[in-house]
Amino acid sequence: MEEMTLKKLEKLYEGKAKILYETDDPDLLVQYFKDEATAFNAKKKGIIRKKGEINNAVSSRIFKYLEENGIRTHFVEQLNEREMLVKRLDIIPVEVIVRNIAAGSLAKRLGVEEGTELRETVLEFCYKSDELGDPFINEYIIRAFGFATGDEITEMSEAALRINGLLTRFFDERGIILVDYKLEFGRHKGEVLLGDEITPDGCRLWDKETHERLDKDRFRRDLGKVEEAYEEVLRKVLA
Ligand code: TYD
Repeated sequence: MEEMTLKKLEKLYEGKAKILYETDDPDLLVQYFKDEATAFNAKKKGIIRKKGEINNAVSSRIFKYLEENGIRTHFVEQLNEREMLVKRLDIIPVEVIVRNIAAGSLAKRLGVEEGTELRETVLEFCYKSDELGDPFINEYIIRAFGFATGDEITEMSEAALRINGLLTRFFDERGIILVDYKLEFGRHKGEVLLGDEITPDGCRLWDKETHERLDKDRFRRDLGKVEEAYEEVLRKVLA
C-alpha cells in the first residue's frame, strides 16, 4: 500500500551492507540491503550472492515477530525484494551485544573454547565507530560522553533481554541456536526503538544438531558454503 504512494528520494547514508534513502515522509526511510559483505572492521571485503534479498526477508520476518510480541522497532513493512520501509531514527551510537554462549571475541578474550555455556545472558556495549573499530565501552563511559542517558541504557538493556527471550525461542523452534548478536537502537518521537537489522550478518547462528555455522563466520573464517548457509537460515526463518 505504502509502496504506491511513497517516493524514494535522496540517498541519506550508505553503510557497509545497507543504504538508507529519504522518502517524501520525513519520518520514514527506505532501507536497501546490499550483497556486499565486510569483516574485521572492513579489512576483509566480498560479495555474498543474494545476501541483500535474504537479509531483507530474514530481518522483515524477525522484526514482524518482535513487533507482534510487544517490542517497539523501526520496522514498518517489507516493500520489495531488497527494500524495507522503516521509521527514521536518531541512532544511539552504542552497539548492544547479546550473548547466550561464549564465542568470537568473548571466547578469545577469556581463553575459553567457543561453545562454552554461560550461566546467564551477557550484555556488552561497544561504541559505534568504524574509525575506532567499535571499541568496548561500559555504562559509565556511555553516560560520561553523553552517548545515551542512564534511562536509555536501562531501556536498551531491558529491551535486549526481552528480545533475547523471544529470539532464542524463535530460532530454537527452527532448529537453530542463537549464540550471540548485535542490536542497535535509536530515538524516534521520544521513544527508544530497535533499529538496524537482525540477520546472519550480525548474529552467530549454529545448527542445533550439528553446530554447523549458518552465519557470517563462514565468510570471516573462509569456511565455504556461505550463500548456502544464508539460504538455509532464510528457509528456516520463514518455516
Ligand atoms: P564479537 O564476538 O564481539 O565479535 P567478532 O564477531 O569480531 O568475534 O561479536 C558478537 C556478535 O555480535 C557476533 O554475532 C557478531 C556481532 N557483531 C556485529 O555484527 N557487529 C559488530 O560491530 C560487533 C562488535 C559484533
